[in-house]
Amino acid sequence: MILTTGGAGFIGSNFVLDWCALNGEPVINLDKLTYAGNLENLASLRDNPKHVFVHGDIGDIELVRRLLQEYQPRAVVNFAAESHVDRSIHGPGEFIQTNIVGTFHLLEAVREYWGALPDDRKAAFRFLHVSTDEVYGSLGKDDPAFRETNRYEPNSPYSASKAASDHLVRAYHHTYGLPVLTTNCSNNYGPYHFPEKLIPLCIHNALAGKPLPIYGDGQQIRDWLYVKDHCSAIRRVLEAGQLGEVYNVGGWNEKANLDVVRTLCAILDELSPRADGQSYATQITFVTDRPGHDRRYAIDATRLERELGWKPAETFETGIRKTVQWYLDNQEWVQNVTSGSYRAWVGQQYGA
Ligand code: NAD
Ligand code: DAU
Repeated sequence: MILTTGGAGFIGSNFVLDWCALNGEPVINLDKLTYAGNLENLASLRDNPKHVFVHGDIGDIELVRRLLQEYQPRAVVNFAAESHVDRSIHGPGEFIQTNIVGTFHLLEAVREYWGALPDDRKAAFRFLHVSTDEVYGSLGKDDPAFRETNRYEPNSPYSASKAASDHLVRAYHHTYGLPVLTTNCSNNYGPYHFPEKLIPLCIHNALAGKPLPIYGDGQQIRDWLYVKDHCSAIRRVLEAGQLGEVYNVGGWNEKANLDVVRTLCAILDELSPRADGQSYATQITFVTDRPGHDRRYAIDATRLERELGWKPAETFETGIRKTVQWYLDNQEWVQNVTSGSYRAWVGQQYGA
């Protein structure tokens, strides 16, 4: 079996759902259930004996030790993190705690467990660390896309904490021989995306008749990948990645934020038109920019395609349509996650 961490969040839950659908191999899913973790994402697995959910923290070394001993996984896939850049600007503490200290405790527990395995299982074991393109910093308009050899230049407390965790993972390979793999992926979108992030926030606000907040001039560029494609890349790297290596994951879909939001509005105009016949685009509102906002991210995923034969299945056009349709079909999920503490966050970030 495998152990995932953070498998009740956006990408982790998509990974666990796909894993259980495609694979006979059981998964132990350790998640702290922060505001971003949601067991409703995994509701379809409630009666599936192949999925075991454990409520806990990756930083709780005794708990992780116990889980490793009890379940004897052949791999650990680490999704657990604080993931929202804006929250890291308001309060970096939790990001340092989970992304750096938590990853360190997890690595320590895994190193101990792996070190005591018999040789054949030791050789087959993998620790896959899920990371981000943000560790490479910001690109100029004409710069080539990020390659695995780009230097680390993280600019936000979030990306700095992810960069630190990547370095720890790398060091555990070089120093102790731990069989690690790291993936650095671009912006994901798709089902179960928490509506604090640009795409689900704008779909939610559009349908609620609220402003669609665009930071600064809206010309910042992100490279969008449908979440299921990220999950297939992780499965492929887990299966065939070279030990100690890093793989960039991306969909070759660079878009300016304003264009992304206009596309969402056009799809919503078609699938769920406003009662007054106006376009949702009239709700677009320019707001104060994010401090230290990275201008452009772009991923060069050539290595993953050339060495491991991975390619995304979705284009931005097909993926974004599926995503909008998913949110329209799952309004109850949205209502549940936007009650409670979500409101306090929106008040703090966007004011009245
Ligand atoms: P998310 O915020 O939606 O989910 C994070 C999950 O981790 C939640 O379920 C949360 O409860 C859990 N968690 C947080 N702290 C924990 C702890 N101390 N112990 C155990 N569980 C904990 O994040 P996401 O968007 O699904 O991102 C998952 C991973 O992928 C992160 O490592 C992130 O850095 C990385 N990543 C995200 C994107 C993206 O576009 N969302 C892109 C590239 C990489
Ligand atoms: O690049 C990968 C990263 O993508 C992941 O590592 C992060 O976990 C994930 O959150 C995401 O980071 P971003 O900061 O790029 O995502 P976010 O959805 O917050 O913002 C996308 C872009 O939209 C960014 O340029 C900021 C802008 N934005 C965001 C929000 C929430 C707005 O213009 N308005 C908003 O209200």
